[in-house]
Amino acid sequence: MKKVKINWPNNKSSHCSPGVEWLKAAYNANIDIPTGCLGGSCGACEIEVNGEVVRACIASVPEENELNVEFFSDPYW
Ligand code: FES
Repeated sequence: MKKVKINWPNNKSSHCSPGVEWLKAAYNANIDIPTGCLGGSCGACEIEVNGEVVRACIASVPEENELNVEFFSDPYW
């Protein structure tokens, strides 16, 4: 099965299957995404995937060759 290459902040990268939840993909890569509600409403887990803001707790890795992830830093959290 095709794997997606994920480039994490701090120059780490990993490979995972499309459809895997973002939190799990991060966990597998030893990346810690902050979480709160785990239900898609608080925004604590927001990351940027290829420049688009995604709530990691309710989204999964899309089918792409390569994705660049940045942590979305919200000063209020
Ligand atoms: S943990 Fe609250 S929106 Fe993801």
